[in-house]
Amino acid sequence: MRGPMEHQVAIIGTIADTLILPLFEGTNKPPNRALVGLSRNAQSQVKGAFASEDFDGKAGKTLSLWDSECKVILLGMGKSDGLKENNARDAGAKIVAGLGKTHGKNLAVRFTSGWKSNQMIAFAEGMMLRDYKFDKYMSKDEDDDDDDAPYNVTFQASARHQEQLTAGCNRAAAITTGVHIARDLGNEPANVLYPMEYASRAQAFAKGKGNLSVTVLDWDDLQENKMGGLINVGKGSEHKPCMVIWELNAKAKDGPCPIIIGKGITFDTGGISLKPGAGMDEMKFDMHGSATVFGLMVALHGVNHKGHMMGISCMAENTPSSTAYRPGDVIDTYSGKTVEVLNTDAEGRLVLADGLWKAGEFNPEYIIDLATLTGACVIALGHEASGLWSNDDELLERIRKVASDSGELAWPMPLLPAFEKQVTGSKIADVKNLGERYGGSNSAAAFLKQFVPEQGEGDDKKQYPWAHIDIAGTGWGTSTNATVAHGATGVHVRTLVRLINDE
Ligand code: BES
Ligand code: ZN
Ligand code: ZN
Repeated sequence: MRGPMEHQVAIIGTIADTLILPLFEGTNKPPNRALVGLSRNAQSQVKGAFASEDFDGKAGKTLSLWDSECKVILLGMGKSDGLKENNARDAGAKIVAGLGKTHGKNLAVRFTSGWKSNQMIAFAEGMMLRDYKFDKYMSKDEDDDDDDAPYNVTFQASARHQEQLTAGCNRAAAITTGVHIARDLGNEPANVLYPMEYASRAQAFAKGKGNLSVTVLDWDDLQENKMGGLINVGKGSEHKPCMVIWELNAKAKDGPCPIIIGKGITFDTGGISLKPGAGMDEMKFDMHGSATVFGLMVALHGVNHKGHMMGISCMAENTPSSTAYRPGDVIDTYSGKTVEVLNTDAEGRLVLADGLWKAGEFNPEYIIDLATLTGACVIALGHEASGLWSNDDELLERIRKVASDSGELAWPMPLLPAFEKQVTGSKIADVKNLGERYGGSNSAAAFLKQFVPEQGEGDDKKQYPWAHIDIAGTGWGTSTNATVAHGATGVHVRTLVRLINDE
């Protein structure tokens, strides 16, 4: 596999195999210092492009110029004052997507007049995010090791930007590592990545890191704890379920902490309520919530996050067999509530029920769960936004904002009493795992709400602030996400780093 992009920050000077010049609209000559170090030939080509108006700096326009020493890509960024971080990030991603073998592995990106530090950092982040391949299962061409070499990128800017740009690029690299690990886990096939394999990888990552611990509740522990949601969903598979509990900076514990929960169905066949065959392979991604939790822990550790926080991954494989749970079963959950199972394909909410209840034991500041929970959410929002539900308007707004700033939209959806009524209407158990046909992502959220733990006593009792993010449409297969070519996206690792780590 190709390693992560290497990068450094420097003042404008050296050239490389390829020089990328992201330029703003509205000048008719190359900005100051844009051409430093280039050969005469390359300089006159760039000047000619400006003079002839073949290059006008309009957003998204590119022009490639060939020189034997250094190829030059002129990239139009549109107007300088209007450049949003999200657009800068996408532009960086698109440049990497368009690179070919002829551009070489050494790149220089030269930020000239008009660029602000935050825009440069976003551009760099886009390049890093997009520089990802999941090719571990492809046979390699022996003579072609160069293709596997990582890019080495120098981000160049004037002296006054060096400090901020250096810090920002290092931070972006640490976060990108987390995003890429989330993608790796998502892309990993289900014959390789099953619940206890996720647990081993989590333990391996935490090993030797003094401020990060991973506790695994295995099959026996689940029985002891009567975690009926995980047990029942996972018991049909030879690969038994588990709960993985992450804790970062336990020593910094002072009061309540954020807790992030992930749905980790390593493969969702639907169980006895079997899914149709077409596209079933995509259900290897049904653990993307837990992949995001893993990537988030990696990213927060990487940016040297100081606060106390926790993660809970609810891992199981949902498959039919003679030991599988069935439609009609009434199961216990960790909360003590019983559930009538009307469809074994609505399994995510059952494993999350145990995770949510578990979170109540750790003094949460707020609880957020991420899950590829419903096809209905994909129908509602396509691949363009995750669904966002919350019992707390302030938490909802904070998540909406950081998600939007990250270019990973989370769209508010209704948590309505009518949907709660649907899932509490069982004739024989406390709740049922199926609502009515329409609005299925809302009844799923309403189901989860039944398992959100409460704080306080008596009349003051109320649920902890909780939000649910349905990533069924955004976890993979998004053709409009510039930061990823195909497969798992690593969605919301960046959103949650902003939420938890940004002041
Ligand atoms: N993992 C699926 C949801 C899903 C479907 C994610 C398509 C991504 C793409 C989930 O476990 C599921 O099967 N949900 C059912 C719920 C239904 C039985 C109430 C669904 O969405 O059809
Ligand atoms: Zn399912
Ligand atoms: Zn599922």
